[in-house]
Amino acid sequence: MSNLCRTAITLSMASICAFGVLAAVPAGAAAADGDGDATAGRKLAAEHCTRCHVVGEINPGGGIDSTPKFQRLAKFDDYHDRFRTFFVRRPHPMFVHIEGAEPLKPTAYGVAPFTVSEAQIDDLLAYIEQLRAAE
Ligand code: HEC
Repeated sequence: MSNLCRTAITLSMASICAFGVLAAVPAGAAAADGDGDATAGRKLAAEHCTRCHVVGEINPGGGIDSTPKFQRLAKFDDYHDRFRTFFVRRPHPMFVHIEGAEPLKPTAYGVAPFTVSEAQIDDLLAYIEQLRAAE
């Protein structure tokens, strides 16, 4: 079972795994926490997340209303779970696809979708650790 699937189960989304949606993530893509590349994670966040979120010093005046700033989320006790599973948390399933997995939802009209791999989520988490450590 992939890490993502296990995480989803802790979110009571075992049914998704049962239907093989997250389970379809290629086993080889499953990387353990801690081996992500923070520079690559920052680049991913700059490319895809700044459309809606303020991400550290990348776009202090950016983002859209109703989205939490990454530097604020990074300080939450459960920041790790929130970022590891962001793609199953609303509104992301409408536009985030996981490489090798069936989309969880049809893509929302007018929102450009993007695809991330499990390894890229490790990279993202490595970058989030930096934000967490920052003042
Ligand atoms: C199209 C807009 C949009 C994009 C792009 C987007 N988000 Fe979000 N995100 C949101 C909104 C809106 C919320 C707040 C949802 C809520 O409060 O119910 C949110 C919330 C979050 C949360 C907190 C979830 C929770 O349950 O606490 C995380 C973590 C997150 N986003 C990560 C990301 C990451 C990582 C990316 C880029 C890879 C990203 N988001 C890209 C709109 C977006």
